[in-house]
Formats: sequence, C-alpha cells, structure tokens
Amino acid sequence: MKLIIASNRLPVYAVKEGDSLIFKQSPGGLVQGLSASIGTILEITESKDYFWIGWPGETIEEVNQERVYEYLLKTLNAIPVFLSKEEMEKFYLGFCNSTLWPIFHSFPSFAKFKRDEFERYIEVNKKFAETALKILDDDDLLWIHDYHLMLLPSFIKKEKPNVLVGFFLHIPFPPYEIFKLMPKNMRETILEGVLNADLIGFHTYQYQQNFIKTVRSIFSIEHDIKNIYIDGRRIRTDVFPISIDFDKYNKAEELPEIKKRVAELKNLSHNSKVVLSIDRLDYSKGIVNRLFAVERFLEKYPEFHKNVLFIVVVVPSRIGVEKYNETKEYIDSLIGKINGRFSTIDWSPIQYLFKNLPFEELVPLYILGDALLVTSLADGMNLVSKEYIAANPKGALILSELTGAAEDLRRAFIINPNDIEGIADTLKEALSLSKDELFERNKIMVEYLKKNDIKKWTTSFLEELSQCTPTKKPIYLD
Ligand code: G6P
Repeated sequence: MKLIIASNRLPVYAVKEGDSLIFKQSPGGLVQGLSASIGTILEITESKDYFWIGWPGETIEEVNQERVYEYLLKTLNAIPVFLSKEEMEKFYLGFCNSTLWPIFHSFPSFAKFKRDEFERYIEVNKKFAETALKILDDDDLLWIHDYHLMLLPSFIKKEKPNVLVGFFLHIPFPPYEIFKLMPKNMRETILEGVLNADLIGFHTYQYQQNFIKTVRSIFSIEHDIKNIYIDGRRIRTDVFPISIDFDKYNKAEELPEIKKRVAELKNLSHNSKVVLSIDRLDYSKGIVNRLFAVERFLEKYPEFHKNVLFIVVVVPSRIGVEKYNETKEYIDSLIGKINGRFSTIDWSPIQYLFKNLPFEELVPLYILGDALLVTSLADGMNLVSKEYIAANPKGALILSELTGAAEDLRRAFIINPNDIEGIADTLKEALSLSKDELFERNKIMVEYLKKNDIKKWTTSFLEELSQCTPTKKPIYLD
C-alpha cells in the first residue's frame, strides 16, 4: 500500500534567481505540519512508500520541467503538477483565491464569480487527478488537502473506486446562507466533488456543522450529527483541529543560535514591552483592525509611549489578487500614519517587516514578544498562536474569537477583532501581568499543545480513514 498526499502546494516552491531555479520552504501551516509528520504517517498507515503531489509554485518553463520533476522526486518523493501562467491566473489567483477564499471566509462582497475561472478550476483538478491516477493502485490511500482540490475526490472515484480517499479542509466552511451566494452550478459541483471522499475533516465542530447543514439544504439527503447518507453510502465527517510540532518550538529556546539572537533583539528593543504579530498578507487576518487598536492603545495609554514596541510582520502572499494589493496599501498607509503621529526622534511605536521569516528568525521573535496579537476576522485555525505559546509559555496570547484556535486555546485573552476599544484595554491588561502570572495562566494550554501536537492530528485523521470502507461507485447528485 502507498500513501499519496495531494495539496496545491508542495513543501517547497521554486523561485527564479537569475538563470537558475532555487527551492524554498513553502508558506502556510498545511505543508509545514504535514512535512513534520511524514514519518508518523508512514508508520500508522503501514505504507511502504508515499508520494506528494502538488504545484511547485512558479510557472516552470517546459525546457526545465523534466529537470525539476526529477529533482523533486529524488529529494522529496514529490511529483510536481506544472501549471501554465494562464492556469495560475485563473485557477490559483482566480477561482481559488478570488472566489472560494472570500466565500469560505465570509467576505462575500470580495468574491468574483467568473465562469472561465471555474472551468479552469475543473481542469486543474483533472490535471491533479491524471497525475495521481498514474501512480494510484487499488489498495492505496489518498489524502487530499484544502479548497484548491475539492473536485479531486470525484475524479479519482470515477476511475478507482476502491482507493480510500480522505479530504481535509484547512479553512473555515461558511454558513449555508453565505455558501449559497455562489452560483448553483459552482456550489453543487463543489459539494458533489467533496462528497466523493470517504472521510471529510474540519478544524472545528462549527465548520463541520455548517457543511452538513449546507449539504442538507442543497440536496435534501439524510444525515446525522457526523454522517451523510447518499445512495446507501455513508460519508463520514469529523473534527480534527490541526496543530504544530510542539517539541520543535518548545525546545527551540535551548538552541545556542536562538539564544544569541534573542539576546541581540532584547538589546535592540531597549527592553521595551514587545507586542508581536505575524500573518500572511490577507484581509481575513484583520491586520487593519489591529492597527486601529494599536492607535487607540497609544492614544488611551500614553504611559506606554517609549515603553512599547509593536513588531508587525506581514508575509507577502497572493500578490496579483486585487483585494490583497488593496489590503497591503491600506496597511502601509496606516502604519505610516500611526508612526508619524506618535514617533519621537528616538522611538517609533511600530516596526514593520514585509517578508517571509525563516524559523531561526521567527522563533527569537516569539521568545522576545511579551504578547502576540491575533485579530483575524476569520481563520481556519491560526497556527501562529499555537507556535507562540509553545515557544514562549510566559507570553500573553491575545486571540481573536473568530479563529479555529480560540476553540483549543481557551486561556488566551480572547478578543473580538471588531471591538477596537476592547483590544486596546486587553493589551493594557495583558502587558501588566508578570511573566510568572502568565506562565501559570498558560500552563493548561501548554499541556494541551504537548498532548495534541501535529502527530496526534495526523494519526487521528488517518486512523479514522483506515476504518472507512471505500465507496464502490462515485456519487452524482442532482
Ligand atoms: C492557507 C491555506 C493553504 C495555503 C496557505 C498559503 O493556510 O489553507 O492551503 O497553502 O494559506 O497560501 P498560498 O496561497 O501561498 O498557498
């Protein structure tokens, strides 16, 4: 038996540097979490082998494709699916990130519904299916990830009904009233696609129930709290909150290079209180709301002037999607405005970095940060909050109640990202606690993360999938 993982991104992505291509670690919790648990995956599925199918992140010219294919296969057991420039625009920037992403994150006014982009989405899903079908045998297990590949279960089951297919959604599933805003052919094709999986996983109970309610409302089929019944077939759904490689973050503080960097940073921040935030550039992360709260905090609590530093790290993402470009411009202008308003010759409240940070740079910031401020307006899980608590059990986690993580990290300072005044006050409260008080407060979350790490997530999903009986025929709904 083999295990095949399919996700839009591979664990690495290609970047052009002059005439050569180099590979860097891909952004996002999905690939990082999965990469960390490959060993466990192989153990629990008793797989002899595994392959990872995905996009290598750049338009790779045809002359280089064979070389890239061989390199990825040899070094990572990865099989690249090459996308043309047009596919990248219509599939990735288009239907995935200008239709599905805003709808699933409940930003319907940001969504475009373009038929040609949807057609490209179908075609790219077929392309992934063709790649998978070349290597899939009947007794293999296929684990499909995220909103980019929601039609893949159908295309696989049509050809290989005996393959066990698991699907995991890494983003929220929206309430039916929002999902329904998608045109009929789009919403029905997508649901039919996913329902061909044998097990469908979500981060939270809320997303799972939104999905079941949506399926019931659109197709009037039978269901109970976890299962959907169609044509005598049972499709299981369940909740598997994704997590992190706990030990990697928790033990990082002991590494000499990390220690050294933390000391350097402490010096640079002049021992001010540091409030950190790290997100991919995305309107769903509520970065603008956060900046309003920072401004309000500085207005309301002048005693913190010169004694606090907000480090705002924004990781470039989906450049080319209009709403992302607009969000970036808005963030830039707000930071300029706040710094202009409150800075003195020897102090600026916000230090802004627009870049991807490697582990060796990121973890020292977690350790330095007296608080982490997460203000997402919608967020499937938010792994940054889990990484922070693991790396810095003496830090204050201020966490939006609209993240999946708020379900797991209940001793965080829970805020609502639209309550600007409330965030400013919570910041004050969190920064007033001593490290010992915070350590006590965080204990239960640290224990939770230790027990519920990325390996637990992988194991729970795959064990449940192995107990499923594969569908013998694909389902078509009308
Ligand atoms: C989210 C999605 C992932 C995605 C990641 C990075 O976490 O759930 O599927 O890979 O964002 O986004 P990108 O568009 O760069 O792949």
